[in-house]
Amino acid sequence: MSGELSIDNLSLYLGSGSQRFTALENVSLNVAAGEFVCILGPSGCGKSTLLGAVAGHLAPSRGSMTLDKKTITTPHPQRGLVFQHHTLFPWQTVIDNVAFGLKMKSIKRDERRSRARDLLKLVGLEDSADLYPSQLSGGMQQRVEIARVLVNHPDVLLMDEPFGALDAITRLRMQELLLDIWTRIRTTILFVTHDIDEALFLADRIVMMSARPGTIIEEIVLEFPRPRSASLLTSPRFAELKRYCLSLLHDDHADVGRLSPLGDLPTYTAVPVLQLAI
Ligand SMILES: Nc1ncnc2c1ncn2[C@@H]1O[C@H](COP(=O)(O)OP(=O)(O)OP(=O)(O)O)[C@@H](O)[C@H]1O
Ligand SMILES: [Mg+2]
Repeated sequence: MSGELSIDNLSLYLGSGSQRFTALENVSLNVAAGEFVCILGPSGCGKSTLLGAVAGHLAPSRGSMTLDKKTITTPHPQRGLVFQHHTLFPWQTVIDNVAFGLKMKSIKRDERRSRARDLLKLVGLEDSADLYPSQLSGGMQQRVEIARVLVNHPDVLLMDEPFGALDAITRLRMQELLLDIWTRIRTTILFVTHDIDEALFLADRIVMMSARPGTIIEEIVLEFPRPRSASLLTSPRFAELKRYCLSLLHDDHADVGRLSPLGDLPTYTAVPVLQLAI
């Protein structure tokens, strides 16, 4: 199975001259083929920068990244990126948007439409094939966007807050849909989010980053069984891990050891509601 990602001591500087700063510092992360990893961290800590580097859009200043032992140097459809806002072509129908990547590979029209139709079925939009993006809701547009990336059979799906612009109910539906898709196609997923609930619901493992310069401060393996349903969101273990994630995001990370629910359970009081916004 392909899709094994390895990030080794990655540091990345951005800006130039006196504006130059360290966006990522010594980030090391191994993601197994087919694993679902969520990256959680405060705004501006370098999550999108990390994804941009893995996508091949930003070159490392130090360190290296490999996918299936091959060094990542440039963007490639085997590493598919999905952003918060869709990048669909407004002048093309849904099916042509999804088939676009196949057109670039010179695959014949009938075959690319047939494969695009299969992907639309996977995301539950087979009846919307001939609509234009402006005729779709935000959730539907993101489903087309996911189909458009998946049509290239990526080894890694890189998702940067893909559901961040959606309302809470649509967001939950999209999370369930993504898990369903991932169960069927088992691609590696690196998923960036601000949202602790989302990370806990989706991931096999959460990687927590510190404020800038972004570095990894904690990894949490999630043992929740799959398939997962919305009832997980109200379970005691979920609440406990959520509290732990909040403490990591708000505390000085030097204190983290004493709170770990991975061994001893945390005994501190819950973070006040006002602090919930990261
Ligand atoms: N091209 C750039 N030139 C200079 N600074 C940049 C550039 N891109 C991002 N930054 C800065 O780098 C830091 C990391 O940005 P990044 O977008 O990776 O953060 P993030 O964790 O994705 O934040 P958010 O959660 O708000 O999306 C931020 O301080 C941002 O202002
Ligand atoms: Mg970002």
